[in-house]
Amino acid sequence: MLLKHAASVIAPFTNLTEEEILRLLEVPPKEEMGDAAFPCFSLAKSLKKAPDMIAGEIAAGLKASGVDATASGAYVNIRFDRYEYAPQLLDELSRETFGKLELGQGARVVIDMSSPNIAKPFGIGHLRSTVIGAALYRLYNEAGYNSVSVNHLGDWGTQFGKQIAAYKRWGNEEELLADPIRNSLELYVRFHEEAEKDPSLESEAREWFRKLEQGDEEAQRLWAFFVKVSMQEFNRMYARLNVEFDHILGESFYNDKMGAVVEELQAKGLLEESEGALVVRLDEENMPPCLIIKKDGTTIYPTRDLATAIYRHDVMQADRLVYVVGGEQKLHFSQVFSVLSKMGYAWAAACEHIPFGLMRFEGRKMSTRRGKVVFLQEVLDEAVARALNIIKEKNPNLEQPEQVAEAVGVGAIIFGDLRNNRMNDIDFSLEDAVSFEGETGPYVQYTHARIQSVLARVADTTLEEQDTSVNVMGNTVAGREGDEGVPLNEKGKEETAAIHVGDTSWALLKLLCDYPTYLEKAVLRNEPSVIAKYTIDVAQAFNRFYHAERIADAPSDIKAFRVRLAQHTATRLAYNLSLLGVQAPERM
Ligand code: ARG
Repeated sequence: MLLKHAASVIAPFTNLTEEEILRLLEVPPKEEMGDAAFPCFSLAKSLKKAPDMIAGEIAAGLKASGVDATASGAYVNIRFDRYEYAPQLLDELSRETFGKLELGQGARVVIDMSSPNIAKPFGIGHLRSTVIGAALYRLYNEAGYNSVSVNHLGDWGTQFGKQIAAYKRWGNEEELLADPIRNSLELYVRFHEEAEKDPSLESEAREWFRKLEQGDEEAQRLWAFFVKVSMQEFNRMYARLNVEFDHILGESFYNDKMGAVVEELQAKGLLEESEGALVVRLDEENMPPCLIIKKDGTTIYPTRDLATAIYRHDVMQADRLVYVVGGEQKLHFSQVFSVLSKMGYAWAAACEHIPFGLMRFEGRKMSTRRGKVVFLQEVLDEAVARALNIIKEKNPNLEQPEQVAEAVGVGAIIFGDLRNNRMNDIDFSLEDAVSFEGETGPYVQYTHARIQSVLARVADTTLEEQDTSVNVMGNTVAGREGDEGVPLNEKGKEETAAIHVGDTSWALLKLLCDYPTYLEKAVLRNEPSVIAKYTIDVAQAFNRFYHAERIADAPSDIKAFRVRLAQHTATRLAYNLSLLGVQAPERM
């Protein structure tokens, strides 16, 4: 809002429109430089003058019209009167539409997210896809899109042939039910070990998958059982992460939709035979061919993704299709999107892979083949246990500490992921993530809870003060309208106006008002970290303010302003945490 206002006062002194100026305007890096900085470099050409000179002239013009402006090199720095603008900024924050954008204009964006594989552990990559996807889902909605989430379960493929073969040889129902994912994984690992010694296992597995694809009763029954028990375990995880899906449609859902795709590829002359398999060549696109039908006649991952994309476009009416999937699948998605575009679908341009980097936990990596994996459940449990320790130490009298610890521990993992640029590889340290200090989820949660208790205390004392003011009123000294009731000696102190807005409250207020620009950036870049970092900035700005400017014992109208500021801060922190999928406990 301040930048908008700056644009309107600068406009008369330039040949630019307010929108053009707004695009150029910057927030100065240091508080003492003012509230807005206008760089004059781009005006130099049309005005045929040095940028410094232009800055000097604009500053002089502004000053003459009563604006606090100074030229500093090629910049015009503008400072606004805090006393005049602070109430307007607060009102801006109170507007119901504040923080909602119309970027999406109602367009439907289908978000492919989470998508773990049946009978395999829910990996760290799936955790990243789940939390990044869920955050984008909410951020897109805030920005005026209509988000639809789809969990594209890996419930089909040759690995199910291996799973069935291994289960038939070494598994049993009891062991599987006792610990479904771990047992499935053990069987899978054993399969690979034994297949090295006995290659006939591979053909046995292929045969089972072929049967599965042809609808064989036993194969289908075992497969359905694997899906069911894995899903039960995944659902427990989703509940802890507070994630729901609009659709859970596994790869198997597209089994009866792939024939048509293969025929269409054939009819459009795109399929070629290569070493017994059918492929779409992507030579012009500088990519290896996209495999459609394998030598043994079965379909494969890309075939299913082609059918999936067409379904999302035609049936789900997606305007945009985004895929939150690890960076290692970059080639796969480039191939799929290229094939769609070769098929003549202009909407292939509306498909986007949103990759992310690798994450290790305390140096440990994921590998399903060898079975040395980190189970997400263990990671969450450990984070919660650590959070509980800290809480018991910091606040031994807290009610329901286990519940709060769950919110803090799980929140620490989610936030610890989302605060990183998604493409960065992360080595995740639980100790750092769960810490109440530093750039962590618990730090933000703690700041939020702290504001709540400050506000509760202020409300208490205000009540006491109101009691006294009622007594006083009986003695004919009436409070002013809208006055919250304050000690007598504070009334009528009009000169306090000048010190109303300290540096730290002004900085916090401006930061709160900047939220929409961060939301826009986060959505345009598919980058929840923009919001996570902004939320840390807000928490830090609040703590600076709380440290430097008192709330509870400030004079009444100053107090009213600071209380509103604190309320808006708490609301922003809790709201942003919820956008990221993190809870904000009232007490910690
Ligand atoms: N299940 C796959 C995996 O774990 C991810 C699926 C991603 N989505 C997709 N439409 N291909 O690697």
